[in-house]
Amino acid sequence: MFLTDEEKRILDGSEGPGKQKAMEMLYALGLTFDAEKLIPVKRAHVALSGQEGDTYWCELLVSGGATCAITPTTNPYWDTCYLTKFYEVTKEELDLANRTGDAYRKIGAKLTYHCAPGLSTGVPFFGEHIAYSESSATPYVNGALGARSNRESSISALAAAVIGKTPYYGFHIDENRHGHLLIEVEADVKDCYDWGILGHVVGELAGYHNPVLRFKHKVNPGPEDYLYFGAEAATSGAVAMYHMVGVTPEAPTIEAAFGGGKVPATAAVITDKDLKEREAKLTPATGDINLVMLGCPHYTYDQILEIDRLFAGRKVSHNTAFWILAEAGAVELAERSHLRQKLELLGVRMVGDTCIDEPCWKSFEGHLGLTDSPKCAYYRERRGQPFAIRRLSECVEAAIKGRID
Ligand code: F3S
Repeated sequence: MFLTDEEKRILDGSEGPGKQKAMEMLYALGLTFDAEKLIPVKRAHVALSGQEGDTYWCELLVSGGATCAITPTTNPYWDTCYLTKFYEVTKEELDLANRTGDAYRKIGAKLTYHCAPGLSTGVPFFGEHIAYSESSATPYVNGALGARSNRESSISALAAAVIGKTPYYGFHIDENRHGHLLIEVEADVKDCYDWGILGHVVGELAGYHNPVLRFKHKVNPGPEDYLYFGAEAATSGAVAMYHMVGVTPEAPTIEAAFGGGKVPATAAVITDKDLKEREAKLTPATGDINLVMLGCPHYTYDQILEIDRLFAGRKVSHNTAFWILAEAGAVELAERSHLRQKLELLGVRMVGDTCIDEPCWKSFEGHLGLTDSPKCAYYRERRGQPFAIRRLSECVEAAIKGRID
């Protein structure tokens, strides 16, 4: 792998041990994937999670004197000031969260604490080379926006931010972005929940390959639709790049989606029945619920508005908590428009900067929760809380009754 003289000097430690560690990481990654060289990036997104490994890596770089050459945006951990008013955490859990914030502050990250950077806090240009971690963010920036990112880890994305470069391999290279399998979609996808279920089916079919979707019915996905689609395709599979013929920017035609080469035979046809079957497989749980959790990935302001419309002044059941996790800017907008205050009177709370997969939610574990996101259910179930999955309108009705039938 070719390194410039300056890159070699950093690797030799002449710019301090922090930058040296970051360069060692990029160099090892480049060697592993046969990268020819490093390329400059102006944007990175670090999926910090407030978990020990991510925090350790950032502290290690900081203690070696590293700061970021480009300011990366960051994923959420949890709002320690606000949520500790409601829920108990241990001193160790709070200390780790505070250490995480301190470390990323010191290294010079942009503390956006938002897991959908491609929607607002870090929107790349078409064709721009970037280094984004967060499994739901990568398919969005690659597939929907046509930017170029590998499926970075928080470790490699932070290293890229410190050096301002990333190894040139994978989705940075034209031929690796081309489609691998053709999926015909005959199903009617109407809202972001349907897009999520479609993503779940596609992810399982595609694995880590690039699916090309051709739709029977005209589709016009919005930001939340792309986000839900990619989040679930990266949950049931490892999809980081996709094409939708006549819709996404690198697929004006089916031939273009496959790189101008031969279009393969159809690998699968997805119908309404397939989506219903997937939904039935994902959503069998019923019973009393102690939590409705929305915002994995983070909700937008428009989704908060939709919740207000669906509640229509009705209240959440006294034995159920209702939480919306959203980008801090969306929460701020809700505050300004008094939507937040209005919803709080109904028992609907919202919080920015927070992920569903954090210790602040542990008091709900052991009881049934409800969400509109299979990704949320997947992570929460790993922490010991069974989850039912339903579309948003059903989540709202269940919250009012305190149970899902
Ligand atoms: Fe965001 Fe956490 Fe879900 S980072 S996508 S809320 S698992």
